Order: sequence, then structure tokens, then C-alpha cells
Amino acid sequence: MCGIFGAICEDALSDTLKGLKLLEYRGYDSAGVAIKTQHNQLQLTKRVGRVSNVIAATQGLPKVQFAVGHTRWATHGEVCERNAHPFLSQDGRFALVHNGILDNYIQLREQLTQKGVHFVSDTDSEVAVQLLMTKAPLYDDIKDALTDTARMLHGSFAIAVLDSNTDSLYLLRRGSPLYIGISNSGNYLSSDVNTLRYFCSRVGVLEENAFCELNSKGATQYSIDDGRVLPIHYINVKTKQLDKDSQGDAMLSEIAEIPHALQKTFDYLTTTAICPDKSMANNIRRIYLIGCGTAYHSCLIGAQYIRRFCNVTVEAVLASEWWYSYYKADSNTLVVAVTQSGETADTLNAARECKRQGATVYAVTNVEGSTVTFVADKVILTQADNERAVASTKAYACQVLALTIFALQFAETKGLIASEQVADYKADFYALPRAVGSVLAEGDKDIDRVANKLSQSKAVYFIGRGTDYFTAREGSLKLKEVSYIHSEAYASGELKHGTLAMMEKGVTVVGIACDSEVMSRHKATVSEITSRGADVITVTPYCTPNECDTLVIPIVNAIYYPILSVVPLQLLAYKCAVLRGCDADKPRNLAKSVTVE
Ligand code: G6P
Repeated sequence: MCGIFGAICEDALSDTLKGLKLLEYRGYDSAGVAIKTQHNQLQLTKRVGRVSNVIAATQGLPKVQFAVGHTRWATHGEVCERNAHPFLSQDGRFALVHNGILDNYIQLREQLTQKGVHFVSDTDSEVAVQLLMTKAPLYDDIKDALTDTARMLHGSFAIAVLDSNTDSLYLLRRGSPLYIGISNSGNYLSSDVNTLRYFCSRVGVLEENAFCELNSKGATQYSIDDGRVLPIHYINVKTKQLDKDSQGDAMLSEIAEIPHALQKTFDYLTTTAICPDKSMANNIRRIYLIGCGTAYHSCLIGAQYIRRFCNVTVEAVLASEWWYSYYKADSNTLVVAVTQSGETADTLNAARECKRQGATVYAVTNVEGSTVTFVADKVILTQADNERAVASTKAYACQVLALTIFALQFAETKGLIASEQVADYKADFYALPRAVGSVLAEGDKDIDRVANKLSQSKAVYFIGRGTDYFTAREGSLKLKEVSYIHSEAYASGELKHGTLAMMEKGVTVVGIACDSEVMSRHKATVSEITSRGADVITVTPYCTPNECDTLVIPIVNAIYYPILSVVPLQLLAYKCAVLRGCDADKPRNLAKSVTVE
């Protein structure tokens, strides 16, 4: 949540603004930059709204060598310029940006106010910069003042500080991710590893509870606890061109990339050992798949397939509920943490706790070098490429594919399914990217018609049975996320236990019915709904009753329907957003990567 970017290079302001634009998916209610001028003064520009407002406001400023910036997702304090980052220390020496939550900010604020500090914002973050200001005179070396400050902060933080007195940027990290990028043309910092790809190929991952000095010569990392130097773990990342991914209608183009992403992910999954070996597989008594939001829906599907094929107790768990649900993990437990970004705080915390209890942790993630890749014992990388739209589409498809192949390979390793059968399932995969392609190519007119209906509905319900129910949940979440239409998902059989009371004219029900065996039941459900005045739309590869509208999808091996049938639902959500004038890429109140609990 919130994006932090900083640069030390020939045109640090321009690069920082480019970095912020790429980070905008993390929060977009306000943004700001701080630069160090040629006269060693700090100059702040902050605006409510998007990064483009800051870009416009900084037009014409001369080139500078040092800059830090921030794009905000408000946690403490209303959305306004005053509460936007960076914050300046009262004496004007430091500018600071922060991602995370400072739990003890009220006490610190009181103490500092008593010492005569005047606060300009309502945020927790400003406390850090004013505290640093009071610490600086106590030490000869600013690094000691920074570590002292960091030790007094409780909670989570990724902090970057610009100091008008030195030619360094200072970084503090606890709980929230922070990366540095090193290149011949400049050095950078970012709260997101993906953003750094556009500027350099060498990325350093800051340690938990670490402090780092970054200047034009490089970086040195220290422990906040005892001040000792910590080696920086560098990874080489594939660089990218800025123009390619950084503009346009991200959600729509990411849906269009699903066939390619699936193929790449399949090729990777089937040539990489993604499952435990036989002895470990036989020792596993329990599997938990944990995730949040869309990732949780892929866990539900993955758990269904593991249950079906692997003869092991398995459960999909909302990562945010881990702490409240009396789950236990031990050395016979395998935990699969599913997270597109690899940075979701709830998922990371639950995964760390499972590890602490002795479990083996696997990660399914789309971002190489993300925090979860350091938490997990093994990483399964989906190959969806960078996903920018807040609502996950192509990464979700790849997560479901990864968990499907995982279930098959796990069952094969345990000798529960014949290798020939697994080979058949894999052979049938090749029809899937083509089937998705045909939904994309041919579905347009039908999807437009249905989107028109949905966007005028007073409420939309999504229903299904088995894995179709999980797809219904994902379709409903997608619609809510991007179009703000009220929507809920139910297992079809549950309708008559309450929700049928809501059926009347003006309500639309979207049914997913990909399982041929449930089609007759679905037909009965359609009658129950339409006879009460509501409309029904069915996503299916089969014939449907006359009284309901249909979005037809191609026939594929049934195991792949959750990947195929979600595509028209993603398109529907996108089109409803457009019809209702919503920004599908950046829905209100949301952020792509939720790094706070
Ligand atoms: C946020 C996003 C969702 C996403 C969820 C989990 O809530 O808005 O779209 O599904 O986080 O994200 P992850 O990166 O862990 O998959």
C-alpha cells in the first residue's frame, strides 16, 4: 500500500515521477515528490489525486540529482494535500516518505508536541520525520540518529529520507518491503521490485529491520538492532522498456494477454519440479492454501482439486482469518501461500506464522524477488508478467493453472493417479489458450449486451456449484471492485435458503454452469429465479433454457473450466465499469498490493 520511489541520478525528478507512475496501482488518492535543489534546499510538490497532477505541477523545474516521491493510499488522515507525502521536518533539513503504519504515533506525537514541534498533517508518518529532526543534533553521524529514530518507531515501515546536509538517501525497513536498484546511470529505491526493472537490472533486497545508506557510489546496509553492517542480497532482474507497460487500458490489455500468460506458465510448470518429492509428499498430512481477495479464490479451486486427486486433508484459508480460526500447522503441514504481488501483509504474516510452527511453506507468486519469495521454502512463479490493473485477471488465471498442475503432479508423486492420465490432462491444456482466445475474439457483442443489462441492474448475484461456485465468487468480486455494482455470490443450492427473497424485477443473476452433470439442476434454479421476475444469464458451454440469456464458452477438458469461464466475467466487469464511467484500472478506495494488515 502506498508507493515509494527515489532516485540519485542526472534527472532524479523525472525518474522519480516515472517510478511513481508505475507505482500508482499501490495507492492513488494523492502524490508528492521532494527534491534537493542545487542550493541544497528541499522543495516539496504535493497534489491530491493522481501522479499526473504532480507531473503537471513540476513542469519546468530544473534537473536535480536527488529526489524521493510517494503515491498514497490513505490510512491516517483524510485525503488532502496537507496529508500527502513527503513530509518536511520543521527545520527543513529532512524530507520523508513512508509506507506502513506506525502504531505508537499518537504517543510520539504528544511527546514531540510537548517539545515544541508543530505538526502540519494528521498522519502517523509525519511523526517519523519530526522525531528524526530532534535526534539529529544528538549525534555526530546522521546514521546514528536514523537508527535511534527507527528503534523508537513501533509498527511497520518502509521509509526513505532525503537529507539536505548529505549526498545520500536513507532507507529504513521493518515489515514493509523496500528495494534498491543499482545501475551505471543512477541508483534508485522503490517499495516494489517490479518498478525497478524499468531503471536497472541489479536489485538489492533490504533485510527486515534494516537501515541503508544509498548514494551515487552504491549502498551500505546496517542492522537497526545493533548497527552491524549487513550484506545486501542482490538479484538480477529482467529489464523492461518504460513505454510498453506503462500506459493504456491495463485491465483490458491484461485480459487479452491471458492466452499467452497461460502458455508461458504451463511451459514453466511442466518443466520445473513444483511438487514435494515422494518422501515429503507421503509425510504431508494437511495442506493449507492461503491467500486474500482474488488469490483466495484460486486457493478455493486449488483446494478442490487437491481434495479430489490427492487424498490429503486440505483447506483454503483466508490469510486475514488465520489468526482467528484456531488453525494449527506442524512439520507435517504444507502451506501454499498464493499471492500475485508477493507483498500482501496478511498472507505474509500467516505464512511466517505457519513456518514458525514448523510447516513447509510454498509460494505461488507472480513477482520474482517479492517478499514472499524470501519467506517461502519453495517458489512457484506464475509467468503472467507485470500486472498493473488493481483487479487481477491474467495473474488469477495463471494461479489457478499453477494450482491445478500442482494437484495433478502431487497426486502423481503419491501414486494416486496414473502418469498417462496426467499426460492426458496436460495434453488437453493446449486447447485452453485457444479457447480463451475465442472468447476474447468472438464474445464481444454478447458481452456488450449482457454488460448493458448488468450495469442497469439494482443488484447482481453470481451462482454456481462446485468449482463454478468459486468462479462465481471471483466474478462477483471483479464486478464489485471495478464497477461498484452491488453484487454477491452464492452456491446455487443456497439461494432457496434466503437469497431467493431478493429475486424480483431489476435483479440479475449470473449463473456459471460448466459441469454437464449440474446442468439439469441449473435449469431448475433458472426457473425458480425467472418466475420471480429476475433475469438470468448463464455462462456455459452447453444449451441453456429459453428463459435465460447465455454467454457461450468453448468446450475444454472440465478441469480447465475455472480458467476459461472466468474470462467472460472479467470482461463483463470491465465493460460495466466503462459503461458506468468508472476507472477500471484504479477503482476507488482500493490498491493492488495491500501491505498493511
Ligand atoms: C488486494 C487487491 C486484490 C488482490 C488482493 C490479494 O485486495 O485489490 O485485487 O486480489 O489484494 O493480492 P495478492 O497480491 O496477494 O494476490
